[in-house]
Amino acid sequence: MKIVFAEPSLPKSGTIVALVTEERTLSPTAIELDRETGGALKRAIAASRFTGRRDETLSLLAPHKLAAARVLLVGAGKPDAFDAMVCRNLGGVIAAQLNAGGESVAAIAVDAINGKVIGAAEAASEMAYGARLRSYRFDKYRTKEKPEQKPSLKELTFLVDEPGTAKRGFAPLEKIAEGVFFTRDLVSEPANILYPESLAESAVTLQKAGIEVEVLDEKMMKKLGMGALLGVGQGSARPSRLVVMSYEGNPKSKNGPLAFIGKGVTFDTGGISIKPAAGMEDMKWDMAGAGVVIGLMKALAGRKAKVNAVGIVGLVENMPSGTAQRPGDIVRSMSGQTIEVLNTDAEGRLVLADALWYTQDRFKPQLMVDLATLTGAVIIALGHEHAGLFSNNDQLAERLMAAGKSVGEPLWRLPLADAYDRLMDSDAADIKNISGGRDAGSITAAQFLQRFVNGVPWAHLDIAGTAWSKKDSPTVPKGATSFGVRLLDRFVAAHYEE
Ligand code: BES
Ligand code: MN
Ligand code: ZN
Repeated sequence: MKIVFAEPSLPKSGTIVALVTEERTLSPTAIELDRETGGALKRAIAASRFTGRRDETLSLLAPHKLAAARVLLVGAGKPDAFDAMVCRNLGGVIAAQLNAGGESVAAIAVDAINGKVIGAAEAASEMAYGARLRSYRFDKYRTKEKPEQKPSLKELTFLVDEPGTAKRGFAPLEKIAEGVFFTRDLVSEPANILYPESLAESAVTLQKAGIEVEVLDEKMMKKLGMGALLGVGQGSARPSRLVVMSYEGNPKSKNGPLAFIGKGVTFDTGGISIKPAAGMEDMKWDMAGAGVVIGLMKALAGRKAKVNAVGIVGLVENMPSGTAQRPGDIVRSMSGQTIEVLNTDAEGRLVLADALWYTQDRFKPQLMVDLATLTGAVIIALGHEHAGLFSNNDQLAERLMAAGKSVGEPLWRLPLADAYDRLMDSDAADIKNISGGRDAGSITAAQFLQRFVNGVPWAHLDIAGTAWSKKDSPTVPKGATSFGVRLLDRFVAAHYEE
């Protein structure tokens, strides 16, 4: 889909989209269209339930005396709530509606809205961003789809008084969307196609975006002492990998880099502590944390963020086999701490234990944020609306929460405390990988991770409930959400550039 910004003028074909605010208040373009059509808009509104509430739509076909084939009225809600997020969501809703209706070209009139909290140019950039984000589709394996089953929209024009300003505002957003799409592509791939080596190869493609990428193989990891990560992968025919991505957008900085660490379990059968069959296919997206870190690096480099950042992803496949690790095995992590593996399905924390230790040891980062589809328990606690946030640093936690809120990827902080930490003590080794009970499962997992951060300011995002969605939302079609890319991009932009 091509996105264009242009001076206002009534289009000669396709759909013209106009905004209506609450209580049936027509925007200037809607008033003009109503006049052109001899009052057809107002009559249509009066005959419907459409009142201009946010995301409501009303479609008029072949309106009398109008060159355009249709008019789509879209509710913009209350004028004083018309902010960036509302615009983004509106853009998504409009794009979805146009695609479902079979339209191929459309123009959206972005009029100044009275009482607005953002200007028309920014509103247009944000609407374009929302439309772009919603128009994603993972359809490479749908070979028999007919054209009429595919999204129809080819060109979307934003009619706005300062099209140049809107276009400049959209440029970095489009780069973030490219990062988001890269993540969604990776997370959507099935595990026969995407496994540690092939996922590492995908990360290597970021070199052309100006990111330095190193791939560590099993031999190198063994030398580093990464017994926790390697133990998880030892049952798989696919060898494990650790990928290090470095982006230097602020070469003069004297601070350590920001570090983002991702769980990349390309398939999680549970290992010898095998999972039940029902729903196991979902475990193809157990690498979503890694996918988000890779997409985030692409977004940061794409928009030339003035920051130094490293992305580290631990890539393994968790399989049962004759070489798989057994419950009761004791492994030695890179930190030197020994781990009693009581349940081979609590594998993500084992991967992250070595990835986190390696990151702080090598890069001396100013902070670390890890992302992982770590526990089913976080879904019990928070469902699919918030990701779990754990941190040893209040300022970091607050910055992450604020960033999440502003992009619509909300976090909810859960506690860490010594009493939970003690639940992870093992009789046979320094630590065990499960507490033994079901209580506070997401917290005990986070406590496990905390033993490998060596006191560095750190936050852990448990994205098990938010990495994949079974329903469409305004800017996220169902499927891989890439939850975390936009959040962390905003987090960086708000506090760590220049
Ligand atoms: N990848 C799973 C967590 C998960 C569950 C993600 C559902 C997405 C949806 C993780 O590796 C896991 O298996 N965790 C176990 C931990 C338990 C054995 C302590 C869990 O949550 O059941
Ligand atoms: Mn597991
Ligand atoms: Zn897992």
